[in-house]
Amino acid sequence: MERREVESAERFLREHAPERAPEAQGWFAWQYVDNPDGFDVRVCRDKDSIAGISGFIPCRLDIDGVVRTGAFSTNTQVAPPYRRQGLGQALHETRLRDYDWALSSGQSAANRRLYEQLGFVVSGDYRRVFVQTTRPRFRFRAQTLREWRSWLFWRFGAQRHAHADHAVRVEVEPHAPPDDPTLYGSRFDGSAVGPRWDRRHVVWRYERHPYFTYRFASVFEGEERLGFGVVRETRTATVLVDLYGRLATRPLVLRGIAERFRGLISGVFVGASLDRMFRKEGWLTFRAGGQLMGKSNDPSLHRQLSEREWCFFAGDSDSDR
Ligand SMILES: CC(C)(COP(=O)(O)OP(=O)(O)OC[C@H]1O[C@@H](n2cnc3c(N)ncnc32)[C@H](O)[C@@H]1OP(=O)(O)O)[C@@H](O)C(=O)NCCC(=O)NCCS
Repeated sequence: MERREVESAERFLREHAPERAPEAQGWFAWQYVDNPDGFDVRVCRDKDSIAGISGFIPCRLDIDGVVRTGAFSTNTQVAPPYRRQGLGQALHETRLRDYDWALSSGQSAANRRLYEQLGFVVSGDYRRVFVQTTRPRFRFRAQTLREWRSWLFWRFGAQRHAHADHAVRVEVEPHAPPDDPTLYGSRFDGSAVGPRWDRRHVVWRYERHPYFTYRFASVFEGEERLGFGVVRETRTATVLVDLYGRLATRPLVLRGIAERFRGLISGVFVGASLDRMFRKEGWLTFRAGGQLMGKSNDPSLHRQLSEREWCFFAGDSDSDR
C-alpha cells in the first residue's frame, strides 16, 4: 500500500472494525507509517475498493548475533462479502514470503485455530506480571485476593532483600533517555530471541504515542543510569510496558521502579527468563491469555520458534500497554 492510500485504509477499518480502530487522530500513521522498521500495510483490492487489509508491524530480531526480520500482523480484516475466498490466508502468506518470521500475539481462540491451520506454532505464553507493594484495601472484587497474595509475597517471600546495600534513585521524565548502547543494546539473555529496539523505536512507540502518555523511569546508582522502565499511570495502577538496561542490573532497576510507583504495578510479557527474574524480585506472574505464535518458510528458522525462548514485553491490545 502506498502512503497516499492511508486515508482509505483507515476508512476501511473504521467501517469494518470500529471496535479496533482507535478514535485518536493520527493513530494509523503513527502505528504503521512512522515505524522505524518500515511501513508495510498490505491490501487486497476489488477494482478500486479495498476487500481486505492487514497492517504489518515489522521488527528486527536478534538471534545468535544475526539480525533477522519479523512482522506482526495487526488489524487483519476482510470485508464480509469477500470472506472464505482465501484473502485472509493470502495476506498471511505474503508476509511469509517477505520476512524471516510471520508473528502473531494476543489472538482469540478462533484466530489461534486459523493460525494453527496455517502451520503457525506457539513460541510462548503471554503472562501478566503483578506486584502490590503497599497493603491492599479490602474490597469486594475478584482481584483483591491476588493483591493480598502479591503483597505477602513481596513483603515476606522475595529474595529482593539481597540488594538492600545498593542505594538507587529514580528519575521520571517525559522523554526517552539519551542514546547509550548499554541501555538500548541487547536486553535478553544470549540464548533468547528478542526484538532489537534502539532509541528511535522507544521514541516512536512511547514518546510519540497518539493517545497514551508514557513516562520513562530511569534508575540510577550514584551517577550511573542502570536502566529504565517505560510506565503509564492509570487511576488504579502503574502499567510497566517495557524495560531497558543490562541484564545484570535489571533487578536493581525493578527494585527502583517498585519503590517509586507505590501500590499496584502490572504489565504483560512473554519469556521464561523474564518470568524467573520477576518472581525472584518478588513480582508475581500469571497467564495473561494469548500466545506468541509464528511461522517461517525456512525450516531451520521455523524450528527456532519452538526451540528457543522468545522474549517480548506487552501484548498487542491497548489494555496490555
Ligand atoms: C479472519 C478473517 C480475516 C479471515 O479472512 P478470510 O479471507 O475469510 O479467510 P480465508 O478465506 O483465507 O480462510 C482461510 C481459512 O481460515 C479458516 N477460517 C476463516 N474464517 C473462519 C471462520 N469464520 N470460522 C472458522 N474458520 C475460519 C478456515 O479454515 C479457512 O479455510 P477454508 O475456507 O478452506 O475452510 C475474516 O474472517 C475477518 O476479517 N474476520 C473479522 C476480523 C478478524 O477476526 N480478524 C482477525 C484478527 S486481527
